[in-house]
Amino acid sequence: MRVRIGTSAEFPEARLVEVTGKNLNLVAARINGKIYAAHGMCPHMNLPLNRSHLEGSTLTCSWHGSQFDLTTGKNLDWVRGLGGMRLPGWSRALIALGKEPTPLTTYPVTEENGEVFVDL
Ligand code: FES
Repeated sequence: MRVRIGTSAEFPEARLVEVTGKNLNLVAARINGKIYAAHGMCPHMNLPLNRSHLEGSTLTCSWHGSQFDLTTGKNLDWVRGLGGMRLPGWSRALIALGKEPTPLTTYPVTEENGEVFVDL
């Protein structure tokens, strides 16, 4: 299903944008000129990714620090910390609550005539 998520101007380079609406919960960002979108909830504990930190294509979840490549969804690191503080390896396993590293669900994005669409 193809859904319009905004105008090109609403997705400036390197800024994470939350996209919500009827049956829509995404985070998206323009990285090196191209827009990428992913499900708006972290696969670790299904908490919102809208306050995540974006550096390059690396998205760091604000809750427990899991990192993902927004361009592919690939999990780069799993449960690195708590409240912005890094945790030692043994406690990371506790915070992970038995959940294995999981990628983000990503969606193809297209731009046409200044409009942005995502294929869900
Ligand atoms: S909810 Fe994102 S790392 Fe825990």
